[in-house]
Amino acid sequence: MKDKILVIGSAGQIGTELVEALRAQFGSSQVIASDLKAPEIPGEGLFEALDVTDREGLLKIVKKHGITQIYLLAALLSATAEKNPLFAWKLNMEGLLNVLELAREKHLDKVYWPSSIAVFGPNTPKDNTAQYTIMEPSTVYGISKQSGERWCEYYHAKYGVDVRSLRYPGLIGWKSAPGGGTTDYAVHIFHEALKSSSYECFLGPDTALPMMYMPDAIRATLELMNAETGRIKIRSSYNLGGISFSPKDLAEEIRKKIPGFKISYKPDSRQQIADTWPRSIDDSASRLDWGWKPLYDLKTMTEDMFINLKKKL
Ligand code: NAD
Ligand code: SER
Repeated sequence: MKDKILVIGSAGQIGTELVEALRAQFGSSQVIASDLKAPEIPGEGLFEALDVTDREGLLKIVKKHGITQIYLLAALLSATAEKNPLFAWKLNMEGLLNVLELAREKHLDKVYWPSSIAVFGPNTPKDNTAQYTIMEPSTVYGISKQSGERWCEYYHAKYGVDVRSLRYPGLIGWKSAPGGGTTDYAVHIFHEALKSSSYECFLGPDTALPMMYMPDAIRATLELMNAETGRIKIRSSYNLGGISFSPKDLAEEIRKKIPGFKISYKPDSRQQIADTWPRSIDDSASRLDWGWKPLYDLKTMTEDMFINLKKKL
C-alpha cells in the first residue's frame, strides 16, 4: 500500500515547511495538510480543516483518505502555554492521545510527534545535556512534552505503535513565523535587523539555548521517519543537537552582515522559562542510531537567513 500522510497543524512554523518536504518526497496527492482553518489563499495540494481534539472528525479524515501515517504538530508552545495552562494541557495531551489511540485501533504504519528541549528543567545539567538525565520541567509546555514522551513509549511497548519523536531545539527559518515560543527571538531578530537595523530582545544577552536552522530540522524529521524500524531504539524522544548560541552571539554574527545593527535587552517572563532549559544538547544517540548530523552552524545559518529573507521581504 502507498503511504498516505496526514499533517496536523500544517499551517504553523514547522508544518509550512514539512508539508512542502513531504510532498516533494511522497508526491503532492499523498500528503493531506490540516489545521483549524483552511488558509485564506488556498495552497497547492489537499487540505482538511480539523481540530485534533475532535476524535470523530479525525477518524473521518483518516478513513476518507486512507491515511497510513500521521505527523502531529498541533500544540501550544512554551510562552503561549504559560498564559493558559489548562487549555495547553488539554490540547497538547488530548491531541496526542487521540492520534495514538487511532494509530492503535486502525493500525497506522507510523506516527511522528515532536517533543522539545522543554522536557528538561531547572535541575538538569545545562551543558551538553544527556539523553537520559534529570527531567523535572517547570513549565506546562515542558510537563506536557514529558508526559507525551511517556505516552509514546507506552503505546510502542504495549501496542507496537511505530511512533517516532525528536526533542527539537528552538527552530529558526525564513519561510514561516514562529508560534509563541521562548526561542522566537532568534527569528524576529532577523526581520527587525533588515527592517530597522535594531532589535529589542526579550531574553538577556547571555541566555544561550540549543537552536537549529529549519532545513536541518526538516531533514532530521524525514531521516528519522525514513530510518529502518530496527534502528529506532528510543521511543520516548531523541535529543537533537544543532547550534548553541546566546542573543549576544547572534547579534555579533548579524553585525557582520549589517554593521550598524543595534540590540537592546528587556527580558520578560520568557527569561524565566529559558533559564530552566539546557544551553547545549548531547545528541550522540541520534547520531549512533539513525545517523544524524547537522549541517548548519551559526555563520552559515545567518548567511542563508539573510539571503532568503531579503528576497522574501
Ligand atoms: P506553531 O504554533 O507554529 O503551529 C502549530 C499549528 O497547530 C498552528 O498552525 C495552529 O493553528 C495549529 N493548531 C492549534 N490547535 C489546533 C487544533 N486543536 N487542531 C489542529 N491544529 C491546531 O507550532 P510549530 O512551531 O510549528 O510547532 C509544531 C510542533 O513542534 C509542536 O508540537 C511544538 O511543540 C514542537 N516544537 C516546536 C519547536 C519550534 O521551535 N518551533 C521546538 C520544539 C518543539
Ligand atoms: N521553540 C520552542 C519554544 O520556545 C521549544 O520547544 O517553545
